[in-house]
Amino acid sequence: MQQTDTIAAFRAALDAERAMRRVVGLVPTMGALHGGHRSLIERAAGECGAVAVTIFLNPLQFDVAADLAGYPADPAADREAAADAGATHLFVPASAEMATGAMATRVRVDGVSSGLEGAARPGHFEGVATIVTKLFAVAGPCRAYFGEKDHQQLQVVRRLVSDLALPVEVVACPTVRAPDGLALSSRNARLCAAERATAPVLYRALQAGAAQAAAGERDAARLERVVAEMVDAEPLARLDYAAAVPEGAGWRLHVAAWIGDTRLIDNLAVEG
Ligand code: PAJ
Repeated sequence: MQQTDTIAAFRAALDAERAMRRVVGLVPTMGALHGGHRSLIERAAGECGAVAVTIFLNPLQFDVAADLAGYPADPAADREAAADAGATHLFVPASAEMATGAMATRVRVDGVSSGLEGAARPGHFEGVATIVTKLFAVAGPCRAYFGEKDHQQLQVVRRLVSDLALPVEVVACPTVRAPDGLALSSRNARLCAAERATAPVLYRALQAGAAQAAAGERDAARLERVVAEMVDAEPLARLDYAAAVPEGAGWRLHVAAWIGDTRLIDNLAVEG
């Protein structure tokens, strides 16, 4: 695995791969790699001749300073995890290299950025869209792997790629969960034992909503109430939102909740 820390070196490395007719798979991350990231890297390794993992803790997408400051980081473990999962390139730019503080440009994706996380975290998706566009510009033509765990982010990325005609094929990957159903997330590391025991309530609540939908419930507000009530019944959990968004013939259920001081999100596609 070849590690680079400058835009010029990373771009040159991926240009060299394409010159050898290898398809480049790109896996953008913010580090603290876990099994969810690993599944994206492994999928890319199975489908692409070269696999580039990027690790950049993007200040533009954090609406709360303490969230950025408290974000877990373990560069040595990340390096080993990326290589082990099949990455051939690792791009870890210093913040000066990505120069987010000096950028006058922002990418704003209307519509899909509204509601849900967009409403709960002002500026978040503008920060995501801006950095993802920059990473795509640096990486060049590629297949880019994103997790359904962050479903709204996936829609934002798909839309910016399509609107700006970027030479990127977006690949969606299923959410990886712990055996008790909790979606893997870098933020799970912040949970104390009691909070960790509570956290699977997000997935249980989504499943309860899914069961109602499967039983024929057609009213979004009632589905949302089923999810909300189950989360609210947990003393250590505080609901932020529960939402049922029509998708195909069914729904996508979304939930966001605070478990202590940690905010977690999850979502589930359900048949109508
Ligand atoms: P990060 O939270 O590090 O996530 C990187 C990628 O891993 C995202 O595509 C995310 O959806 C995916 N992922 C996270 N947890 C997952 C899980 N349990 N199962 C499957 N995939 C999972 O998302 C970001 O970083 C940033 O916003 C980024 C796109 C890198 C832009 O800064």
